[in-house]
Amino acid sequence: MKNKVGIFYGPTGGKAENVAQKIRKAIGEDMADLIPIKNSKAADFDKYKNIILGCSTTGKETWDAERTKPDWDLFRPEFDKINYEGKTFALFGLGDHITYASKFIDTVGFIGKILIRKGAKIVGQVPTSGYKFTDSEAVINNEFIGLPIDEDYEPELTDKRISEWTAKLKTVFS
Ligand SMILES: Cc1cc2nc3c(=O)[nH]c(=O)nc-3n(C[C@H](O)[C@H](O)[C@H](O)COP(=O)(O)O)c2cc1C
Repeated sequence: MKNKVGIFYGPTGGKAENVAQKIRKAIGEDMADLIPIKNSKAADFDKYKNIILGCSTTGKETWDAERTKPDWDLFRPEFDKINYEGKTFALFGLGDHITYASKFIDTVGFIGKILIRKGAKIVGQVPTSGYKFTDSEAVINNEFIGLPIDEDYEPELTDKRISEWTAKLKTVFS
């Protein structure tokens, strides 16, 4: 990996932000910037070839039939304005695999499907075998389109999950 990583995340002030900070540390603070998505526009993506998008799934807000938090909801029209050419994307998401077993990290799936429709290059898929859940919008072609993190019921696994995932990203980011 030669180029800096832009970590765009939301919401702020909770577990998604905490995990975004850990991911930045694991990549190397000099090689990654943390940017709250609520302050971002499509043009902010132009600075980066390597982009990580992070979210939590809470279902409090809706966008069409899809559920997310307001930060990503507000950003949604910007997906049409991003120049996807030459960029590589990876996703992570906070969820709760016990209480919301049938909607585990759904928002990662909603964002991932937008990227797929846009023809974006996506890396950092994760096998489902390390997780217990019943259904998830984020399972695409039998694997998670991004990294699931459960700080509610599996916080002891977070650091290992992040270090394995970021080690892989470093080999596939440009
Ligand atoms: C009202 C509510 C709804 C939730 N819905 C989901 C859900 O549909 N799927 C899921 O995986 N987690 C769900 N969660 C769990 C959150 O995603 C999880 O607690 C996450 O770590 C919160 O991150 P944040 O503090 O950054 O918002 C929900 C939590 C709340 C409070």
